[in-house]
Order: sequence, then C-alpha cells, then structure tokens
Amino acid sequence: MDVLKTTIVPLAYLLSAVMFILGLKRLGRVRTARRGNTLAAIAMLIAIVATLVDLGTVDYQWILIGLAVGTLVGAVSAIKVPMTKMPEFVALFNGSGGAASALVALSVVWLKVIEPMKVGTVADAVGGGAQSFTIALSVLVGTLTLSGSVVAYLKLAETISGKPTLLPGRHVLNALLVVGALGLGVWFAFMSDDPEQLRTALLVLVGVSFLLGITLVIPIGGADMPVVISLLNSYSGVAASMTGFVLSNNVLIISGAMVGAAGLILTKIMCDAMNRSLANVIFGGFGADETTGKGGGGEYVNVTSAGAEEAAMILEDAQSVIFVPGYGLAVAQAQHACRELADLLQERGVDVKYAIHPVAGRMPGHMNVLLAEADVPYEQLIEMDEINPEFKNTDVSIVLGANDVVNPGATRDKTSPIYGMPILTVHESRTVFVVKRSLGAGFAGIKNELFEADNSLMVFGDAKKVLTAIIGELKQAN
Ligand code: TAP
Repeated sequence: MDVLKTTIVPLAYLLSAVMFILGLKRLGRVRTARRGNTLAAIAMLIAIVATLVDLGTVDYQWILIGLAVGTLVGAVSAIKVPMTKMPEFVALFNGSGGAASALVALSVVWLKVIEPMKVGTVADAVGGGAQSFTIALSVLVGTLTLSGSVVAYLKLAETISGKPTLLPGRHVLNALLVVGALGLGVWFAFMSDDPEQLRTALLVLVGVSFLLGITLVIPIGGADMPVVISLLNSYSGVAASMTGFVLSNNVLIISGAMVGAAGLILTKIMCDAMNRSLANVIFGGFGADETTGKGGGGEYVNVTSAGAEEAAMILEDAQSVIFVPGYGLAVAQAQHACRELADLLQERGVDVKYAIHPVAGRMPGHMNVLLAEADVPYEQLIEMDEINPEFKNTDVSIVLGANDVVNPGATRDKTSPIYGMPILTVHESRTVFVVKRSLGAGFAGIKNELFEADNSLMVFGDAKKVLTAIIGELKQAN
C-alpha cells in the first residue's frame, strides 16, 4: 500500500504531466491536434485514477454520480454546439473550471476549520501561512473567473448587450474591489482565529470576487470577448494551479500552470494580430463609440456588383485563385461548397490556395477547423505573412464572408478603430470577388474601402448559395 502512495501515485502524476505537455504541443498543429486532444484526455484519466488511489477510502457513489453527470453534460453539449457558438461554449468551460477550483479550496477550509468549529488560524489548520493565503487566492481567482465567464457568455449569446457598459469610476471601483479582496484574504489567512468570523470572511470574499468578475468584463465590448475568454481561460488555469498548492497535488499545479501560460500566450497572439495591447482590450471600451459596433458601416458611393454568371466567366480565364475565408463562411456553413469550387478550378489547371488570417472568424484557428472539416489539404492553407506577397500575382481573390481582415483602411486610415491591424492584402489581386449578403459591417462595425475599389466586384448573397451558383455556372460551361 505504501509503495502505491509513495511511488506509483507520483509516477502516475509524472506520466500524466508529461502526457499533458506532449498533448498541448500536438494541439499546436492542425494535423496532430486530434491526437494531442486524445493524449491529454488519457492523461486526465490517469491523473483522476491516481488521485482516487492517493485519497484511499472515498465515497465512490458520489464520485461515480459526478463522473456520469459531467460526462453526459460535456459530451452532449460538445456534440450539439455548432462551430460558430464555440467561443460561448469555451467561456462556460472556463467558468466551470474556475468554479471547481474555488469550491475545492472552500471545501478544504470548511472541512478542516469551519465545520469542526476548530479555534485557531487557517494557517495553523492547513499547515502554513502560504497555503492558507493560497486558499484565499484560489477562491478569489476561481470565483471571478466564474462570474466573468458568465458575463462573457451572455454578451456573446447576445442575451445582454454586447456594447461596453462603462460604469462611472469603474477603474477606481475595480481597484477598490481588488484591494478589498486581497485585504480580506490576508485577514482570513493569517489573522482571524474564530471559525464563525472565518465563515463570514469567506462568504464576503466569494461575493466580492463574484462582483469583481462582473465589473472587469462588463466594460469590454462583444468584439473583444474572444480575447477576454482566452484571458479567463488563463485565470482558470491559475486558479487550478493555486488549488494544487492547497492540496499539495503536483499534477494539478503543473496542468494549471500550463493552462495559465497557454491562455496568456493565446491572448497575446490575438492582441498582436489585432495590433492592440492587452491594456487597450481590458480598459479600452472598444465598441462604445457609435461609429463601431453592429450596424455601423458608413455610406458607399462606388460599388460594382456582379452575379454568379459573371463571376464564373472571370474564373474561367483565371490561372490563380486565392480563397479568403472569414466569419461569414462559418455562418453560411459554406466550407464544403468552397472545397467543391476549389476542386473544380484545380481540375481546370488553376492554382488554388487559401489565405488564413490569425483572427478571421470568432476564435483562434476557426478557419483552419472549418476548412479541415471539408478536407481541404493542409498544405493549401497559407498563413497571412506568407500569402500576402502572392496577392499581387493572383488573378482572382474570392473573399468569402470576411470583412475586417481584408479592410485596407486598417493600414491607411489612422482614424480607423482597427488602424494597425495587419490584413490580408487582397486588394492587390487583379480581381477581387467579395461574397457577402450586403454592404453591412463586420465585427468592428466599420466601413470597408475594399468594397469601393476599382478591381472589386461585390457578389451579394449567402456564401453557400453564391458558391453553389458559381459551381453550377462553371459546370454548364464545361
Ligand atoms: P467580420 O469582419 O466579422 O465580417 C464577417 C462578414 O460576414 C460580415 O460583414 C457579414 O456581412 C458576412 N456574413 C455573415 N453571414 C454571411 C453569410 N451567410 N454569407 C456570406 N457572408 C456572411 O469577419 P472577419 O473578416 O472574419 O473578421 C473577424 C473579426 O472578429 C475581426 O474584427 C477580428 O478582430 C474579430 N475577432 C476575432 C477573433 C478571433 S480569435 N478570430 C478574436 C477577437 C476578435 P453581411 O452581413 O453583409 O453578409
């Protein structure tokens, strides 16, 4: 039995930590992502089994009920949720992670101090000041992750307005809440020795942290929610890691730290791709201005439109075509039609590529996942920096439901809210088809001067319907 606890369990933790690292590495590439996910899931199973063995006698009845409910809810929702709703889904996942960490930390104090009405500081009960303060931090970060994630979810689902709600004096309020929560944490961890007071302090800490999650996220506009979700993902990892310290559980410390770091790296990648600083996202209130947000877009004066027939005729003479997918491709679920048109063009000897912008769509890797669903060969998906020099030698660029990521105003117009965001330079192609339903704005809610360019043709309609019509025209021409 001793060997089990002293050798087998730590080895199992080490094995699962290594598997988490390898799984995360594989998630970095589309080709290996599925295997990475499976590897990390197996690592999680090993960690759970090792923890149960380590705990010794536990009430398996509740554990099995929890396992069954969790598996059912997770599997059913993951199968049912459409790709376009994935950011909301991830927000709820992060919130659940934060809540779980906070609840575990709370339960430690409850079982060791409050329920037995043990007089003495939490530090005495849990084996040290650092550990008791970690409990407070875990409750703080975990709870604010939960409430912040719920607000992010409600904004994305448009249950509440996606516009930033700018409370007067919000920075002062947030600063006061942070200082208050930390002060309460110090008092709880080191100073109070009365179980009744400890219980009150803990409940107030939960309340303050919950409020902080709301006041931190509510001023951020819907357009920035994917970045916020990535940041909250990082927070959920930090909370888990802290809970790992509370429980002295190495695999929780390691995996939580990995989630924390990965979330921060992803947040930075997204901010860089939008040319915004993290501070600008968190404090900027982007989208509060009336010129941004849904429905904006400005007047267009010189727009040329074309139908599927004209588009097909131009494609008949093209030697090179670049597809530029955006959020509208996901909405229209036009990835299969896109692949079909690409195949048809390739059969005619056309050179076909896909240009991938890092923040096209609504979540990182959104376009890669969509196109992989339609079995588009990975080698045809070309990242922004690599594809941009190719546009000037390309006959036709087909923009499919993309808008902000192809807006030349981002490079020219210093007053544009997306000024400085790197874009796909489709306007340099000989001809550009912009396939979308109207002249309506994209996520940033601004006018796109690409629609007025001399070499642009607007092909109005749902992306799937337009592509299907072009395919029909090309087939007729054969
Ligand atoms: P957007 O700029 O959001 O434009 C999408 C366009 O799709 C809209 O203008 C819409 O025009 C069109 N559309 C909607 N449904 C359609 C349909 N059924 N068929 C055809 N078109 C349709 O998309 P984007 O270029 O992919 O840019 C992404 C935006 O999200 C950027 O502003 C980016 O900064 C922001 N963002 C992304 C991320 C990540 S990680 N991807 C994170 C944070 C922020 P119509 O209504 O006229 O059809």
